[in-house]
Amino acid sequence: MNKLSQITMLIDPPNQTQTRWQYLIPSLSCRAFAPESQMGPLLGLARAIRGPVRVTYFQTFRSYQLDGCNQDVQAIARSLAKDASNVVVMTGAGVSTPSGIPDFRTPGSGIYDNLKQYRLPYPEAIFDISYFRQSPDAFNTWAKEFFPGLRYQPNLAHFFIKLLHDKGKLVRLYTQNIDGLEVLTGLPHEQVVHAHGSFTGASCVACGRVADLEDYKANILLNQNPRCSCSEKAPIKPDIVFFGENLPERFQMFQEDTAFSDFLICMGTSLEVYPFAGIADAVPRKVPRLLINRTLVGSFGSREEDCILLGDLVEQVIQLCRALGWEQDLFDLKNAYDKKNKLGNKELP
Ligand code: OAD
Repeated sequence: MNKLSQITMLIDPPNQTQTRWQYLIPSLSCRAFAPESQMGPLLGLARAIRGPVRVTYFQTFRSYQLDGCNQDVQAIARSLAKDASNVVVMTGAGVSTPSGIPDFRTPGSGIYDNLKQYRLPYPEAIFDISYFRQSPDAFNTWAKEFFPGLRYQPNLAHFFIKLLHDKGKLVRLYTQNIDGLEVLTGLPHEQVVHAHGSFTGASCVACGRVADLEDYKANILLNQNPRCSCSEKAPIKPDIVFFGENLPERFQMFQEDTAFSDFLICMGTSLEVYPFAGIADAVPRKVPRLLINRTLVGSFGSREEDCILLGDLVEQVIQLCRALGWEQDLFDLKNAYDKKNKLGNKELP
């Protein structure tokens, strides 16, 4: 079935209530923005162009308020310490900016504002499967810079999640990140769902043949565009989820995890990309949801139990750990990691 493979919701600033929708139409290499009132006609247009449209995780949020939210770090810590034993954590690129990896959408520093040299039809094309099949160069250049395990190290935000695990509170981490920094902290693989995939494998986009990961990595680091030896000589792509591709099956665990959760922590994401963003709304309404982020995102602020720590993630995490009496534990984890790994930036060839 033809379908619009990725639908992204953008929410206007907190004092406005109108919801805008962004439609990515990869086969047409374009995207469209529309207020909610025009959604019907736009979907009609998309159907006319591409056939049946399947919309999953369709949701609208009418209003949210910061004022009514719990922003008291002591009270949040008490609730986390006392009432939470099944914590679901969801993260995005913001947790890795303190490690030196830019996020996607922060104006100025975000990746999407810094892709001019690639002459992409629209910024997200760098992660668009149709575009990659024709022009893998932009993605491969990005992959050379951010190939996991070469330059970047986990920061205190990542160690906070490991600490939640060590304290027996973490049910699962759902991350959109493909940098692999959360597992470098020692968090067991079964505790992590890489919702947008990872660099742990690579395969041909045409015939699906699995590529040798070391060869793939070596080619990327040598600025070559790895291609399969099949008849199409198609590009090889790591196992990360591009726009237009399905999420891994493990992602579906969020339904059960959220149903039985008693606390949700959302950190460093704009919550603009679905279906991942839907995790925040899948927890029952009585479950406290804590957002730690520079800006208010998603539907946070719309529920009575919402808690919000706005500002720099690492600073907020330190404050929260201090209020929990976990600050020393947090630094001990990071210091032990640094010592074990004798840290220093590795140079690329
Ligand atoms: P975004 O760049 O959309 O959002 C990052 C969020 O983190 C923003 O709200 C920032 O304000 C916040 N942030 C960044 N640094 C921070 C800091 N030091 N302290 C506090 N907050 C901070 O990144 P994602 O939400 O992860 O998909 O983007 C989602 C998906 O869009 C990605 O997985 C990627 C992208 O297209 C694919 O590639 C398929």
